[in-house]
Amino acid sequence: MARILITSAIPYINGIKHLGNLVGSQLPADLYARYMRARGHEVLFLCATDEHGTPAELAAAKAGKPVAEYCAEMWQVQKDLSDGFRLSFDKFGRSSSPQNHALTQHFAGRLAENGLIEEVTEQQVYSNADGRFLPDRYIEGTCPNCGYDRARGDQCENCTKQLDPTDLIEPRSAISGSTDLEVRETKHLYLKQRSLRQELSDWIDSKTDWPVLTTSIAKKWLNDGDGLQDRGITRDLDWGIPVKKGSEDWPGMEGKVFYVWFDAPIEYIACAKEWTDAAGCPDSEWERWWRTDKGADDVRYVQFMGKDNVPFHTLSFPATIIGSGEPWKLVDYIKSFNYLNYDGGQFSTSQGRGVFMDQALEILPADYWRWWLLSHAPENSDSEFTWENFQASVNKDLADVLGNFVSRVTKFCRSKFGEVVPEGGTYGDRETALIADIEARLRTYEGHMEAIEVRKAASELRAIWVAGNEYLQAAEPWAVFKTDPERAAAIVRLSLNLIRLYAVISAPFIPDAAARMLSAMNTLDTAWPDDAESALSALPAGHAFTVPDVLFKKIADEEREDWQTRFAGRR
Ligand code: MF3
Ligand code: ZN
Repeated sequence: MARILITSAIPYINGIKHLGNLVGSQLPADLYARYMRARGHEVLFLCATDEHGTPAELAAAKAGKPVAEYCAEMWQVQKDLSDGFRLSFDKFGRSSSPQNHALTQHFAGRLAENGLIEEVTEQQVYSNADGRFLPDRYIEGTCPNCGYDRARGDQCENCTKQLDPTDLIEPRSAISGSTDLEVRETKHLYLKQRSLRQELSDWIDSKTDWPVLTTSIAKKWLNDGDGLQDRGITRDLDWGIPVKKGSEDWPGMEGKVFYVWFDAPIEYIACAKEWTDAAGCPDSEWERWWRTDKGADDVRYVQFMGKDNVPFHTLSFPATIIGSGEPWKLVDYIKSFNYLNYDGGQFSTSQGRGVFMDQALEILPADYWRWWLLSHAPENSDSEFTWENFQASVNKDLADVLGNFVSRVTKFCRSKFGEVVPEGGTYGDRETALIADIEARLRTYEGHMEAIEVRKAASELRAIWVAGNEYLQAAEPWAVFKTDPERAAAIVRLSLNLIRLYAVISAPFIPDAAARMLSAMNTLDTAWPDDAESALSALPAGHAFTVPDVLFKKIADEEREDWQTRFAGRR
């Protein structure tokens, strides 16, 4: 039994995520966590909300709520949706937790002690009316390039020109509209990542088993001329983690907070402490996952994320960890994903284009989405959601192949033998061949799951379902029954056992349907089929079962067309 620590990139707090976000980290992480638990390993699976930064402040302002209140509410919304999708986090934390405040300040203190923090004096816009420094995007004015009068201090939305706040004509505060602005000197902290370049590069080079998508992005950032810059880790915002050196004040840093990308990955660690604190356990319980001096040296740590997150996880966060000089666990494997597009374009949060997590669950149960998303995960390239493809996959894979198998076998048995596993008859060549086929395919499926080859695993699982269907079709128990009921009984007995086996191996993809299959088979036996032959005799003759309700209903053309129009944009 191994110990496996799994984290998913933590979603921003500002708003409900779309299916592209879901399949880019949380969902495949859940697949892996469920699989590893099913194989008997000890798993700690963590996720949280990413609550700091300008977008959180802006979203709260738009909602007309204090930012702390907004975040608390949105955390609950995201938590309920992740429960709805059956994401099996051991803890869904918050980057704004007291645990993360303390740990982030601790890391900053350690980095400072190790000479890795530089204080840099900069010129920045101060708003007298608001009594604060303004981040670039909080300053609006007229674009010197195109004359657009609502250009932001970082960029003009109209002509896309990159700007400095001082370029703007008649600049004003985006918070109060005040034009009483002045340029003042202020200090910020920079993390001297450049001095860790060699260590980071050696570490990445040692990861020869990482997916190409991960290492190619990491190396590009490391080796490009302006790749590994020293990085500003403080901001002038009200909401965030106050800049401190451990628990001590940091002179000159009053009123400043850490940059969101500094504190967010530290939440991976703090989240484990949120988990044990909530359970009233001692620190040793989370430290055994995170401190290599306290037992974490034999933990395998796997991270899941979209490709845009890769630089932060291969360079910035490791720089924080390595720079601390403390024995924290570094990631062992990074699984990254390309983007999922939506029906010929992109998912768009601002335009409400595409399906969002809340809407998805309003129209269909989680398993339908989980199956489609995972079996089409954007692993080797971007992939695309279309309603036609979704309808076809659900109707074929889930309804015609898996659902139909379960329904035919259980109904046929009920009508001829009653709701018990029938006895009598013997297995012949057909059964021997099926068992050998299932045995081989199971090992292939396991290999893909271990390697986190999500699409390949899905297609092998589908092939295992198909094998059962083809067997049933060829063995024809309904025809055989007329001349040789004992032989029909043997076929049905094997098929009922296949339903239990399917439930166990399919659970990481479609946990709800799997649970219904197990409960119909009236068994709590979820043992992994290490050996197909013995696994297929788990339900003995005489074992009672019930015929389940329809597992998956088909998507009709009218429904599909309806949804197509409804999700085309403008929420
Ligand atoms: N919130 C970020 C995003 O959605 C991900 C943060 S991952 C962490 O892109 F490492 F910073 F936590
Ligand atoms: Zn412009």
